[in-house]
Amino acid sequence: MSILERFSLVGRTALVTGAARGIGQALATALAEAGADVAIVDVNAALAESTANEIQQIGVKTLALSVDVTDVAQIKKMVTSVVSAWGRLDIAVHSAGIARRTPSEEIEEAEWDAILDVNLKGAFLCSQAAGRVMLAQKRGSIINVASMSGQIVNRPQRHAHYNASKAGVLQFTRTLAAEWAPHGVRLNTISPGHTVTPMTAHASDEDRSTWIANTPMGRLGQPGDLQGAVVYLASDASSYVTGHDLVIDGGYTVW
Ligand SMILES: NC(=O)c1ccc[n+]([C@@H]2O[C@H](COP(=O)([O-])OP(=O)(O)OC[C@H]3O[C@@H](n4cnc5c(N)ncnc54)[C@H](O)[C@@H]3O)[C@@H](O)[C@H]2O)c1
Repeated sequence: MSILERFSLVGRTALVTGAARGIGQALATALAEAGADVAIVDVNAALAESTANEIQQIGVKTLALSVDVTDVAQIKKMVTSVVSAWGRLDIAVHSAGIARRTPSEEIEEAEWDAILDVNLKGAFLCSQAAGRVMLAQKRGSIINVASMSGQIVNRPQRHAHYNASKAGVLQFTRTLAAEWAPHGVRLNTISPGHTVTPMTAHASDEDRSTWIANTPMGRLGQPGDLQGAVVYLASDASSYVTGHDLVIDGGYTVW
């Protein structure tokens, strides 16, 4: 099989959480352009529906699923819906996430819990639910969207809970990768640097300038900068890659 054929996702089925907008939307679009049928999963049902309709124009099947990734019953239903519609689940990408900025001495317990619930527990429960199907199939690729903030203390924003949640995603992903490697299920993370999405839209000009000044490539990332990575990690082109964190940050973590 040629190398380009090994990147093809024709005939594969995928789900992407947080896919209504931002990075998740770009990753879902990339999987569809590579040939996969894709379920667009998001807590924002209306936006998930319109993104699914848009991606369908590429010529693949889509499903729009309204799911809150902090709710285990909804997660189970998400996986069941994909399997009953398309017969199997080959690729699961977990991009749903939230961020808040608060100095550590002021973080209330409820805010800590909210961040950890979506970013860490949500990603774990989605990986577990997708993994159960993939273990039975003896094949599958799970890609969790972490962050460079899982490895470095990003600045100038202060968000200890966000950093901790992403470090947790890196470590549980590596752990599951080791546990499930003998059974044909691969897990990897993509760690974006500062990327222009609705999540970062509120940033001040000063923050933006600081981020750009600290990025060797001298610009912020675009969601499209992450698309090659997700197709690579989802496809047979990465068949010997598991437990890896692919940092895509314009060189930010090099300095
Ligand atoms: N934008 C960045 O600079 C950046 C950098 C590193 C990592 N990330 C990570 O990338 C991922 C996507 O971020 P983004 O910038 O696209 O953010 P975004 O806010 O633009 O999109 C996040 C999506 O997740 C959905 N979502 C939020 N909570 C959910 C829940 N409980 N259940 C289901 N869906 C939910 C939202 O509705 C939204 O559609 C996040 O995990 C984020 O932490 C972003």
